[in-house]
Amino acid sequence: MSLEVIVLAAGKGKRMQSDLPKVLHTLAGRPLISHVLDTAKALQPHAIHVVCGGDGESVRAATSGDELRWVVQAQQRGTGHAVQQALPGVSQDALVLVMYADVPLVRCDTLRAVVNSAGEKGLSLLTVIADDPTGYGRILRDSEGRIEGIVEERDASEDQRAITEVNTGILAAPAPALARWLAQVTDDNDQNEFYLTDVAALADQDNFAIHSVVASTQEEVLGVNSRQELALLERLYQRRLAEVLMNHGVTVIDPDRLDIRGKVTAGRDCVLDINVVLEGAVDLGDRVTIGPNNVIRNASIDDDVVVFANCVIEHASIGAGARIGPFARIRPGAAIEEQVHVGNFVEIKNSELRAGAKVNHLSYVGDSTVGRNTNIGAGVITCNYDGAHKHRTEIGDDVFVGSNSQLVAPVTIEQGATVGAGSTITSDVPERTLAVTRARQRHVSGWRRPRKDTKR
Ligand code: UD1
Ligand code: CA
Repeated sequence: MSLEVIVLAAGKGKRMQSDLPKVLHTLAGRPLISHVLDTAKALQPHAIHVVCGGDGESVRAATSGDELRWVVQAQQRGTGHAVQQALPGVSQDALVLVMYADVPLVRCDTLRAVVNSAGEKGLSLLTVIADDPTGYGRILRDSEGRIEGIVEERDASEDQRAITEVNTGILAAPAPALARWLAQVTDDNDQNEFYLTDVAALADQDNFAIHSVVASTQEEVLGVNSRQELALLERLYQRRLAEVLMNHGVTVIDPDRLDIRGKVTAGRDCVLDINVVLEGAVDLGDRVTIGPNNVIRNASIDDDVVVFANCVIEHASIGAGARIGPFARIRPGAAIEEQVHVGNFVEIKNSELRAGAKVNHLSYVGDSTVGRNTNIGAGVITCNYDGAHKHRTEIGDDVFVGSNSQLVAPVTIEQGATVGAGSTITSDVPERTLAVTRARQRHVSGWRRPRKDTKR
């Protein structure tokens, strides 16, 4: 039997109080549904069908690139009705796994267990023992522990409500059986909906074996219905990501104050201080230290780099042993080589800083090359923009640019040259010369400062 997955994503998500479809709210920076689709894909199913509502266009757009079969459930008439919409597109010899797009943390291994226990003449349910079963469908078992059905809370008796084993909603069964049972489901219940859960009792009547896989933690099967639950799941998920890093030898000062919204790799003995946000693809070498309050997006940071507090680094590479910050902004296209120092209130954009270069204070370096061991003094600005075009500044090796100088691009400062402090450089500086453009200092003797008139 081949496997096909049906992902239910049509629910309105009223409790989110949002104009955005619920499944597009993000967990770790990605839509809820993308997490579910990733897990589904890991099972390598023959097909993935997504049931969405009338507002499905935006969901479709957000998951473009994935090979999915879309089914529209124009009216939300219940989970059973939703599955029924997808079944005509499912192959007759398929085993169907039903997943919920708003249950993002479910693990692949757990789903595999559900799929494996279903088989040709079985229905398999993923259940969990809940601390507080309120709101969930309860699993009904006979005296020998065999599952007889599922009852929704609002349709349950007092005794049934005391049951703590609940339905997660995730189930697997052969497609033809599922179709047969769903054709018999009615909306004769408190919500007048066609419940998927009713297939359990029908399977029992059909002499199908009903298997259950009991999820090991409730966290794994939590759904998102409100912003509170979204925040809770975000923390749980972040915990998981922090665990993985710690297992690989990264010190995480406080796992509750680390946020990963992408894919992070790290070597040994890295340290991540508090309030670090890592987004996109972030690769850290060995012994990298990231201080507090850093945002790092799509960057590779080599061995022994120290990023001090309060920096923003994006689309950049940082070579071994470099020191960045505090309060530095490293923008896209920055290629910073080994042992470079970039200090406080320095902005680097689309520039190469060769090994050993130093830009320590209050500078803007854009569209530039800064040579090896060159020193850029405090307050230096590369004037890269003339209002219409960007121009490059080329600075050779061992150059010294004095503080508060402006380098008006396009301009080249050849190796070994010195620029005197306070200069505005508009033409190329030959190698090993001094360029200085500031006015000479003069002294006016006997100079008297203006004074305020004193009233009589
Ligand atoms: C459902 C189960 C309940 C289980 C709980 C677990 C039923 C009848 N009940 O209840 O036993 O304990 O999940 O969280 O199945 N959806 C559609 N179309 C619809 C209705 C729902 O696509 O017409 C989708 C929703 O987007 C969501 C999922 O199905 O992803 C579950 O729907 P929801 O309304 O949240 O079901 P519950 O009442 O929570
Ligand atoms: Ca729900």
